[in-house]
Amino acid sequence: MATRGRRFPVRFISAPVWARQRPTYAMADPAVIDAAYRRAQRRPWGNWYVVAASREVTSARPLGRGVEGVEVVLWRDDGGAVLAGPGVCPHLGAPLADAVADHGRLVCRWHGLALARQQVGSWCPFPAYDDGILVWVRLDRLGGQEASGQPLVPARPGGGVLDAVTTVIGRCRPREVVANRLDPWHGAWLHPYSFANLRVLQAPAPDPDLPEDQDVFRVEVTFRIAGGVGVPVLAEFSCPQPRTVVMRIVRGEGTGSVVETHATPIGSGRDGVPRTAVIEAVVACSPRPGFAAALLAAPLIRPAMSWAARRLWRDDIAYAERRYLLCGREDNA
Ligand code: FES
Ligand SMILES: [Fe+2]
Repeated sequence: MATRGRRFPVRFISAPVWARQRPTYAMADPAVIDAAYRRAQRRPWGNWYVVAASREVTSARPLGRGVEGVEVVLWRDDGGAVLAGPGVCPHLGAPLADAVADHGRLVCRWHGLALARQQVGSWCPFPAYDDGILVWVRLDRLGGQEASGQPLVPARPGGGVLDAVTTVIGRCRPREVVANRLDPWHGAWLHPYSFANLRVLQAPAPDPDLPEDQDVFRVEVTFRIAGGVGVPVLAEFSCPQPRTVVMRIVRGEGTGSVVETHATPIGSGRDGVPRTAVIEAVVACSPRPGFAAALLAAPLIRPAMSWAARRLWRDDIAYAERRYLLCGREDNA
């Protein structure tokens, strides 16, 4: 990997044409991916689900989300604290996503019942947590794990960061979304517009008891910026929680930057097929002087970051949905 000179991280890409790349199927062992997925399912997560980007939750109007068929409503009080509760009014069931936010209360549109931090009949607020980029809600009845006071937020770079959150919905389970992220070998094949010269340097052994500090994929890859130029990096993928995959850049431009992919089950559609929300946060950092200017221009840059993430997920969701069609109906694991 070229590391010469910190001034110009961009390199001309010298890569074979797409069909002449070195095939990766022999290395992309389904047993390795499956074992990594299964190990992750045993990790604690305290019943916390990622439900939205922090920016999406405001004091101006409620936001409705679904988690495993449970309607959840989110809003903020006047101090900016996130509140959450069931999205069904306890009176006659009006959707609280349509309620009116009034100084930290939600006022139901049907008959004016006001809801906030207090339990009202069967309606009881859910614990909610805003980590600054994502909002999490704790649903103990669904999770069934030992509840934790706060979610286990993956380590993120400190200081000035540029973040963008993208949400896409797939017709599959979280399992297929996570397994897609635990298959780094598809990168340069399925996403040639974004990745070149991808090499998986290390994959975890398919050992059910592999220690967590060894449970990591190390990948050398060049991110394409445009056509024939890109930025080479070394990245690590790990799965710290059952439905969360973290990609961390450990060498090259943007070292310390992370991409957190959270797969939140929404519930089944009318067709009986499960839906999963992929909520992905890109948290970028850089010591370069130009990065300070990028932070100032964050509102302009964020849409471009989301566009790039959406383009990747267009293909990754197709991959995950295909895997669900082939395998999901039989194995209800
Ligand atoms: S349904 Fe909400 S107040 Fe009646
Ligand atoms: Fe992908």
